[in-house]
Amino acid sequence: MPELGLLQREDVVSYVVILLFISGPINNIINLQNIYTRLIVANQRMNKFLDDFKGTESGIPRQNLVGVPFQSLEFKDVKFEYEGNEEEEKEYAFTLGPVNLKIERGETLFVIGGNGSGKSTFINILTGLYIPSSGRIILNGDTEIDLVDFQVLMTSIFTNNHIFSNNYDDYILDDNPKYKELVEMMELDEVLEDFTEKSARRKYSKGQGKRMSMIFALLEEKPILVLDEWAADQDPHFRKYFYEELVPNLKARGKTIIAVTHDDIYFKYADRIVKFDYGQVVKNFSVNEEVLKTESIW
Ligand SMILES: Nc1ncnc2c1ncn2[C@@H]1O[C@H](COP(=O)(O)OP(=O)(O)OP(=O)(O)O)[C@@H](O)[C@H]1O
Ligand SMILES: [Mg+2]
Repeated sequence: MPELGLLQREDVVSYVVILLFISGPINNIINLQNIYTRLIVANQRMNKFLDDFKGTESGIPRQNLVGVPFQSLEFKDVKFEYEGNEEEEKEYAFTLGPVNLKIERGETLFVIGGNGSGKSTFINILTGLYIPSSGRIILNGDTEIDLVDFQVLMTSIFTNNHIFSNNYDDYILDDNPKYKELVEMMELDEVLEDFTEKSARRKYSKGQGKRMSMIFALLEEKPILVLDEWAADQDPHFRKYFYEELVPNLKARGKTIIAVTHDDIYFKYADRIVKFDYGQVVKNFSVNEEVLKTESIW
């Protein structure tokens, strides 16, 4: 440009110096645009995620139920509907209830019914994961509660259980005699290298994972144990052990057990059976040998 007489030679130096100095900040601003766009998208996603929780409050004042002695839990006209997103989905949307059911302290309750009858949906309500659309839950005969608050009295193992790689619980596994006893009881002592926290967080087969979850659940020492098809992944030997020894053993120690099951040959180990069909409780009866012989359960 100085050759063409468009610029003074000394001005070129100034321009080059200025351009060199501002190119860095300009590049930074351009790169920030990328981060800014990601921030906006993340913010939109978070708002959408939080929207999903709107309207899921039961409206019942929150209560601290830690240490409250459990006597009974009563479901009164409890209903739950899955919300279909599309119009056509709504037609097939599944409704659970109204469920009327009383669970007494210390009883072993088996929840039965065909595939898709609503057992797991019921368990998800019981464990506070799904908020009922209507109905009331009464604790110990007189207190209306939100089942979310009731979780402090219960420990649960779901069908698709997951074992965390860290311990977020209140108990410590290292040098814990109760843990050692439970590992031996669940016949996992040959699988684990030792009785430490580290070896507990190894990879398991499905059945082993369920047994480990049972160990963690029992270490919590909560009065109520909720199991959704726990024995389904167990081999015949351990399934037998579960129904014939573990369940009676826990019952003798005062645990209230609510277990979803399809294992009809072991139904006699329940105190009471509740059967679901199309989202309704269609049977609710105390178990004895006679009933099991005469009643056409299925
Ligand atoms: N997240 C969901 N959204 C919509 N509908 C669902 C959802 N989960 C389950 N359902 C429907 O609810 C009904 C009951 O399902 P649920 O899982 O409670 O059955 P289940 O009795 O546990 O069956 P299984 O013996 O197969 O475990 C089914 O018809 C199912 O299609
Ligand atoms: Mg299920």
